[in-house]
Amino acid sequence: MIMHAADDQAQTRWTTEAWYQAAWAHEVKAEPLARTFLNHDVVLFRDADGVAHALEDRCCHRATPLRLGAVTDLGLQCGYHGVTFDGAGKCVLIPGQEAIPGQAGVRSYPVIEKQEIIWIWMGAPDHAEGSKLLVDFPWNDDHAHWPHLHDMFEVGCSYQLLIDNLMDLTHIPFIHRLTIGGGNQMGQVDARMEVTPTDTGVHYIRWMENIAPPPTYIKGAGFAADAMVDRWQEFEFVVPSTVLQWTGALEVGRGAVENRHQPGGFSLRLFHGVTPKTDTSCYYFWTPLNGYKPDDDDATKQLFDEIGFTFQEDVAFLEAQQSVMSAQPEGPLVAIKHDKARLQAEHALRRFITERSGSR
Ligand SMILES: [Fe+2]
Repeated sequence: MIMHAADDQAQTRWTTEAWYQAAWAHEVKAEPLARTFLNHDVVLFRDADGVAHALEDRCCHRATPLRLGAVTDLGLQCGYHGVTFDGAGKCVLIPGQEAIPGQAGVRSYPVIEKQEIIWIWMGAPDHAEGSKLLVDFPWNDDHAHWPHLHDMFEVGCSYQLLIDNLMDLTHIPFIHRLTIGGGNQMGQVDARMEVTPTDTGVHYIRWMENIAPPPTYIKGAGFAADAMVDRWQEFEFVVPSTVLQWTGALEVGRGAVENRHQPGGFSLRLFHGVTPKTDTSCYYFWTPLNGYKPDDDDATKQLFDEIGFTFQEDVAFLEAQQSVMSAQPEGPLVAIKHDKARLQAEHALRRFITERSGSR
């Protein structure tokens, strides 16, 4: 199937009628945090009660960016003339003036705080109410069994290209030779794979049985250098732009295929939150959860550093890919066998955008 880069991107651009990750909860404090979502400039902050809010990053008085302001007991105060807005965007103070004009207000975006994540709704606010969060990741709240650190990369590629990367893991033995892709290259490419469409996206699991563990797994779980393992990679794409991961390995002979919930071995859960910034840039929120040595803080930090290094390797390829697609929007693209999950995810995203565009 021949597709052209421009078709690929334009058709599945995005929908505002959805929840997107705006931040990790700990990033939003009693000070303005500026971000751009779906080409809209937004400022996040916590009010005096610690509740998170999101407002358009523009004061209605002189169009000054509110990110230059400060949080007070009343809300977010513009840094220019002190005009202040509460979390709903209502103007609650104009220094030196009693009467507040009815039209004095700024747009506010609905937010949900759940499982260490701040979700934002960029569509019509009254549609947010009835639209439930499609993502559930309870392990984020279970630091005892799944300790983890959080990070976010700003990446110079469209959010779809990042999702694509997570839907085709045959890139791992090529891009990530030094970390999660070392060892038997073709054994990783030829993994047994099951792809299953879901109501909210696509799920797949890849099995590599009787294979040498990669460097990250040897370092983390302490597998013997000559150990052979049964390794799995389970991923779920949830529209519009979240990927949930559970990957790991157990020594051959421990029946991993029948039961992965066994002590020892390597077990990593990963949350990938991808949010469009512009047509050719996105926020990549990620956190790797240490399920193999939960009482070992050094292991949690080591895993975080390894995964951070691994994702930097992806970023280099993704940004290079984006620059070629931007330079040659009409360039042909040829799908191959390993694009199965990617194409399913793209199909699910298109369906979702079409459904949601109907709800405007
Ligand atoms: Fe990767």
